[in-house]
Parts: sequence; C-alpha cells; structure tokens
Amino acid sequence: MSEEIKGFSKLSKDEKIEWLTKTCFRDSNSAKKILTQYWNSNNYLQKLHDEFSENTISNYYLPFAIAPNFLINEKIYSVPMTIEESSVVAAASKAAKFWMKHGGFKADVINEEKTGQVHFIFHGEKKIISEYFDFVKPLLFKNSRQITKKMESRGGGINDIQLIDKTSDLKGYYQLFATFNTVDAMGANFINSCLEKFSKTFSDSINKFNRVGFKKESIEIIMSILSNFVPNCLVEASVACNVSDLNKLEPKSKNFAQKLVKAVEIANIDIHRAVTHNKGIMNGVDAVAIATGNDFRALEAGVHAYASQGKYKSLSEAIIKDGMFNFRVKLPIAIGTVGGVTNLHPLVKIALEILQNPSSKELMKIIASVGLAQNFAALRSLVTSGIQKGHMKMHLSNILNKFEVSEKEKKSAFTYFKNKIISNSSVEKFIKKIR
Ligand code: MEV
Repeated sequence: MSEEIKGFSKLSKDEKIEWLTKTCFRDSNSAKKILTQYWNSNNYLQKLHDEFSENTISNYYLPFAIAPNFLINEKIYSVPMTIEESSVVAAASKAAKFWMKHGGFKADVINEEKTGQVHFIFHGEKKIISEYFDFVKPLLFKNSRQITKKMESRGGGINDIQLIDKTSDLKGYYQLFATFNTVDAMGANFINSCLEKFSKTFSDSINKFNRVGFKKESIEIIMSILSNFVPNCLVEASVACNVSDLNKLEPKSKNFAQKLVKAVEIANIDIHRAVTHNKGIMNGVDAVAIATGNDFRALEAGVHAYASQGKYKSLSEAIIKDGMFNFRVKLPIAIGTVGGVTNLHPLVKIALEILQNPSSKELMKIIASVGLAQNFAALRSLVTSGIQKGHMKMHLSNILNKFEVSEKEKKSAFTYFKNKIISNSSVEKFIKKIR
C-alpha cells in the first residue's frame, strides 16, 4: 500500500523517486535502479519526455516496429507500429504480403467532419431561444475569428453551428452543435477553443438581444467540449480477390473463404464475438495511431460507439459474390499529422517520415488498411490453425526472457518448440531440463 503525500508534484524527480521507492518497495534500491535505468542520457530528450506529462519519474518503452509491404491505392508503405502484443506486427506484415500480390488495399476517405457541442439549459419558450440563436449565430463566427483565422488559411474552420433541442430527453437541455474541418490536425485544441469562445459569446450577447424577461441568467452553460463520436469522419478500406486464390492460401482448410465470411457473420450477430473481432481490428489501428502520435483513446471510444449504433456489431464486412471474396472495413478515424506531439516527439516525426509525411486523409487510409489487414490475419488464424500457434510462437521469446536465458539456450528452445505446443509450463520444464 502507498501512503498519502501532500505536494508530490512540487518535489524534484529524484525526491519523487526517493519517496515512492521508500514507500512502495521493500527493496527500494533495486526499484530506484530500474526506474533510473530507463532515463535517457541525452538531457534534451529526457527533458522533452518529462514535459509530455506531469509527475514523470521515468520513461516507459514500447516496441517501435515496421510492417512492410502495404500496398494501398497503388503506393507501397512500410508502416510503423507501436504495440507490446507479440504477433500483431507479424500478422499485419503477413496479411500485407498476401494482399500485395492480389491488388493491394483500396482506401477512401468518405468524410472528415468533426463535431463539438456547447451543452446548456434554458427553461423558457423554445421560440425565444430559437430567435436568440438566429440573432447570435453570426456573432459566434465573428468572435471566434482570432482562433479560426489560421485554420481557415489552411482550408478548414467552422463548417456550421446549429441549435439542437434536447428537451424531450432532459428538461431544458439544448446544444449548440458545431461541425468543423480541421484539415491535417486532429484539432482537439482548436475545436475546444472555438466551443469555449461560442459559450462566452452566447452568454455575453444576451443583453444585446431585447426580449422582456430574457437575461443572462436565463441560460445556464453546463460545458463545452468536442465529441469523440465522429461518424462523419469516416474512412473505408477494402481488398478483393478470387475465391480460388484465397483458398490457395490455406490449402489444408476446406472452404477457407466461406469460413472467413461465416466468421464475420458471427461477429455481426453475437456481441461476445463482435467485441473481440473489433479488438483485433483495433490492434492495428491503435499501433499505427500510437506510432504517429495520435490519441488512441479517442479512436477507441469513437470506433466502439460507431460499432454499437443500433446493435454492437462487426466493423468489417465480408461477402463472396461472382467468385470474388470482398472484404472491407469502415472506421471513424479522427487523427492528425500536424499539431499535438507530432512535431515534438522525435519518434513520431520519424514514423511520419517513414510514411512520407502523409496528410491526415492519407493517414486515415493507412490506418484503416492496417486495421483490415489485422482483422484478416486474425480471422485467418482463427478459422484454420487457431490463434495460439502463431501467438505462442511469438510469445516464446517473451517467456524465455523471463528466465533470463542465454543466446544458446534461446536457440535450442526455438528448435525444440518448432513443432510443439508452447506454454509457460512447457517452456519452464524445458529450461530446467537443459540447465
Ligand atoms: C488478439 O489480440 C486479437 C484477436 O482476439 C482478434 C480476434 O479474435 O479476431 C485474435
């Protein structure tokens, strides 16, 4: 158990570590050693990382990997992926290699609209708030000019602002519902700044609107914030090939293509399967999002909300028509290639450079294609050998590392487990035997 502390944030990094390791560890020296081992000897880099967050005491590494051979809209990409789960990158690469030989991925951005709302309460007549909204709407745009100027010069800005009546769901509840185009930025700061300005203008302009009994206190602003539900920031990725070509990929499996279709049908009707199916897609989506400095929590929230419209179901679709296997995914992906940590984190800059500095539209297409590849790879394993074979093979290194094996021991373990079932206990037994 830890203990209460006042003023933790005011302590220096060394003091924080001193307090933490003394409080939470029996062996404080070894904990201190591990925490400081991950410090970067380059002071500039260390300071940069310290300042990404608050109360930082060390750095947390994740692998930065590459899935090569992604042919998307006739262009080849080597895709950077940041993920700790073994086999995800290998699976993506394997799927990319197959689809490269079969026309590659086709991807298209359907729309890139983002939204945000000012949530407020008004208990008066609907007619009055509607008239006030019509009066104040031009001012909402005008007073935000300072914030929108730069975005407009890049081709974006505020698309529209609407008054939404939500009073049938919650007494007196209305929204200023705004739509935005944030071009190559994810745009969270831009949108939230605009919304906070709208909220101020909306409250402050009441005295300019002459209506008896309608005063500043008539409107109670609750909050102003962007929405991570982005069903109109949509990208689609697809692949297609002859059923016979697909079946050649798994010659031992009877009706491989049909089984893939069935697997997607199951994810469409059963929520237990659908969530795991979509998690597989998000393995790829999140890994590219993290590598390129994007907010994967926002993506997760938005994607699962999108999947649950009506009823939670698969994000991908698979059909066989006229001898062709068609596989596609539609994802709401609000990301950016400028702003946020994209210009700050050196590895994010490298990731974007590996992708030839894509626009946000291009990155949306890459992310959706990787999500589809990941889904294809997972379903391929699931309907044939099962997921554990490939998974545990990749996981063998991780298990071996726990036993701090030598290179020689590692080599003999890989030879021994080539055609055997890998589990924690079987690896432990093998290590004991060879030692
Ligand atoms: C594991 O991270 C992802 C899978 O469970 C996805 C799926 O079941 O489709 C293999």
